[in-house]
Amino acid sequence: MSMQEELKGLEQQAFESIKNATELNVLDAIRIEYLGKKGKLTQVLKGMRNLDASQRPIVGSLANDVRDKLTVQLEETKEKLEMKKMKEKITQEKIDITLPGKNIPRGYAHVITQIMEELEDLFIGMGYQVVEGPEVEADSYNFERMNLPKDHPARDMQDTFYITEETLMRTHTSPVQARTMDTHDFSKGPLKMISPGKVYRRDNDDATHSHQFHQIEGLVVDKNISMSDLKGTLEIFAKKMFGEEREIRLRPSYFPFTEPSVEVDVSCFRCGGKGCSVCKQTGWIEILGAGIVHPNVLEMSGIDSTEYSGFAFGMGPDRIAMLKYGIDDIRHFYQNDLRFLEQFKVRR
Ligand code: DAH
Repeated sequence: MSMQEELKGLEQQAFESIKNATELNVLDAIRIEYLGKKGKLTQVLKGMRNLDASQRPIVGSLANDVRDKLTVQLEETKEKLEMKKMKEKITQEKIDITLPGKNIPRGYAHVITQIMEELEDLFIGMGYQVVEGPEVEADSYNFERMNLPKDHPARDMQDTFYITEETLMRTHTSPVQARTMDTHDFSKGPLKMISPGKVYRRDNDDATHSHQFHQIEGLVVDKNISMSDLKGTLEIFAKKMFGEEREIRLRPSYFPFTEPSVEVDVSCFRCGGKGCSVCKQTGWIEILGAGIVHPNVLEMSGIDSTEYSGFAFGMGPDRIAMLKYGIDDIRHFYQNDLRFLEQFKVRR
């Protein structure tokens, strides 16, 4: 058999094997078998030595031809097999989008936060700004600036946790009144603010007392502010919070930082005033303390009490939430029991 025939046969054989190869590693084995250093083509070429000098270039170029064709064939088949492998992999990895997804629980605001934000919205709508004050407060702001000097008996009702002799956990949000008045620029308009936040007292915790609870303070200072401004404002608050049919009533009371002072009741939203267990058969629910800002309090912030006057109020969101939702124990708010909290799940 001539070398030409041998080469042709080899080419034929190789093509056949390549055509039948279905795996990449088989294909690679074929490459080595024919084109490798000790491969069949090399083997044949070794026989060139015995050829006639005139024959060598002819056989040589034919050998190159065979090598090139095989190389191309191998390359193309390799690409095809790789593509096939990739397709198989993609089908195997196909994502089944019909499977139900993992449900990631989303948070929601605490019921007290919800009530506070509702109140903030209401007062922002009436032109108030929302101001925050520190929970660790100076005795001077918490008491003295609220017209409760060091030996004042009304301090007894608001005993608290002391950090030092002069620093304490604030017992109410009222000190934010003084802080806001200190910096307010009356040339820019009246002062209208509310201040929501946490307050602390040395209370023995029970169903209606907690050593930590919440308050929202309100303060308006301008020329000619009177009791009727206070009453009108609180009426709007009561109707928005507890229903349009609600009425309010003011009873005389005492707070060192207001004069006169009042306790404000809202007609019972459960029985409408007839008397029930919510209002303890009185038809009225006590909801907040308020009054006309004491001149001493204005003067201590450098505000002329002969020119300016104001009203203030303080309410407890905890109590409002308890009334609104019929919650019988304030401690529920602070025990972080999801069975309780999830009843007030409101998405925002
Ligand atoms: N600070 C009072 C308290 O904690 C609540 C209060 C009453 C605030 C009357 C006021 C007010 O601004 O005018 O008991």
